[in-house]
Amino acid sequence: MKFITVDTYEKLSRQAANIISAQVIIKPDSVLGLATGSSPVGTYKQLIEWYRKGDIDFSRVTTVNLDEYVGLSGKDEQSYRYFMNKNLFEHVNIDLANTFVPNGCAVDLAGEGEQYDAHIKALGGIDMQLLGIGHDGHIGFNEPDDVFVKSTHVVELHESTVKANSRFFANEQEVPRLAITMGMVSIMQAKKILLIASGKQKRDILEKAFYGPITPRIPASILQLHPDITVIYSEE
Ligand code: F6R
Repeated sequence: MKFITVDTYEKLSRQAANIISAQVIIKPDSVLGLATGSSPVGTYKQLIEWYRKGDIDFSRVTTVNLDEYVGLSGKDEQSYRYFMNKNLFEHVNIDLANTFVPNGCAVDLAGEGEQYDAHIKALGGIDMQLLGIGHDGHIGFNEPDDVFVKSTHVVELHESTVKANSRFFANEQEVPRLAITMGMVSIMQAKKILLIASGKQKRDILEKAFYGPITPRIPASILQLHPDITVIYSEE
């Protein structure tokens, strides 16, 4: 594991974008696993800037996102599909048909999960997975549990996650309580993992996740077993 500490969020974003753009330059048809939330916003901004300068080409890239709220369609401004379109996809030359986010409105959510995993497998797996980390140690929406859940599945969000994510909604009541998330197999089978976390309030969970015991009570701790993971942490 490589653990990089920087002082500012801007540096974190530039370094993460550097690693992602190197991946796409070396393998133009990369399958990128992407995340939403506050952490990757600066990384996506930087990638857009470099795309505009002609330094990075997304035309052959495929993306698979980690998760989506159940019940929100891609047109809903709080959905993760909408977030990805607005924060990255609309600004670069990626083919939207090659961007995948779990369908939170699928009638058969279990079937959607199976199809999502089968699709990732058919793509040849994820070349590089970008992750954030929740205060309770969740990755994707894999919340603390008695077991590591392997496949893409529906999950009930924990109260602390609902609270943390309510900052994107008008109030806490509007935050969906269910989400569909990639499971641990697709994440752990990614060839490379890049986890970004910013702010002193994330330091404690990073320490537990990467230097404590491996336990499903801290889902991110499973990443200690990954052979190629880079963590970038900014104090700011
Ligand atoms: C989002 C996701 C989540 C976030 C985590 C941290 O797609 O997978 O695991 O990465 O909740 O969120 P932020 O970055 O907002 O602190």
